[in-house]
Amino acid sequence: MDSTATESGAQMPVNEQTGMGPIILFGPPGAGKGTQAKVITEKYGIPQISTGDILRDHVSRGTELGVRAKAYMDQGQYVPDQVVCDMVAERLTHADCMKGFILDGFPRTVAQAEWLDKYLGNRVFDTLKQCRPAVVIRFVVEYNALLQRLTGRRTCPTCGRIYNVHFQPPRVPDTCDVDGSRLVTRKDDREDVIAERLKEYEQQTLPLAEYYRKCNRLLEINADQPVEVVTAEALRAIEHGHSL
Ligand code: AP5
Repeated sequence: MDSTATESGAQMPVNEQTGMGPIILFGPPGAGKGTQAKVITEKYGIPQISTGDILRDHVSRGTELGVRAKAYMDQGQYVPDQVVCDMVAERLTHADCMKGFILDGFPRTVAQAEWLDKYLGNRVFDTLKQCRPAVVIRFVVEYNALLQRLTGRRTCPTCGRIYNVHFQPPRVPDTCDVDGSRLVTRKDDREDVIAERLKEYEQQTLPLAEYYRKCNRLLEINADQPVEVVTAEALRAIEHGHSL
């Protein structure tokens, strides 16, 4: 496998057809990571790996991991690094990741980022001919807008489509446009839990911006713009990387 080492020494897989490396979506709760990940997934045919979605799936199935994670998630706190890293390691072994992948909400601590660099550096992605540094896209949105987005969010439990009662309402109230399912509100979108999630982000995740900036991998986008404008900027960042 050909490779390009990043400044931190890690080697990253790249999609042969598109020339992309892994895409990391980074930003506070409500910044639009999930919304944008779904568009990028469709455009490039690569999977969205959302640690939040995987954890919620474990919680709803009542697995041992889910029972453990729920106690943290209900309080708006982060699930321990080792639990999340093991989960991501397992997911990255699936065949669909060989063409590239989007990490949505991971890494979100410096320890997770260090683990990821090491993991990707050690793995052989058989079908990938070259390696390239991950593109890290940071979505920047101010605090009050985040609050409004999170309290107004509704999700389809069947297809996962994300709505917002203020900004992106469904055509029929509380009903998914795609499959007609009744929309749900996430348990952690209560104001007291949101405040804790935003605190965790500032304390544990913001230092990551510096981690990626130092190795020249961070691309920042003003995500306080209409969804389509953010999408266009995200796609430019992915395709032109550091020349944005
Ligand atoms: P997770 O599910 O990842 O939640 P999060 O990071 O808090 O992010 P959100 O899903 O709330 O927001 P988003 O940025 O995806 O925004 P969205 O697109 O939905 O994690 C949940 C929990 O799991 C964590 O609290 C933690 O406990 C645990 N966890 C997960 N990963 C972990 C990790 N790596 N380590 C440890 N613990 C972990 O958009 C939000 C709303 O805004 C929607 O209504 C949408 O329609 C609207 N919207 C989006 N874009 C726009 C726009 N441009 N303009 C107007 N509205 C918009």
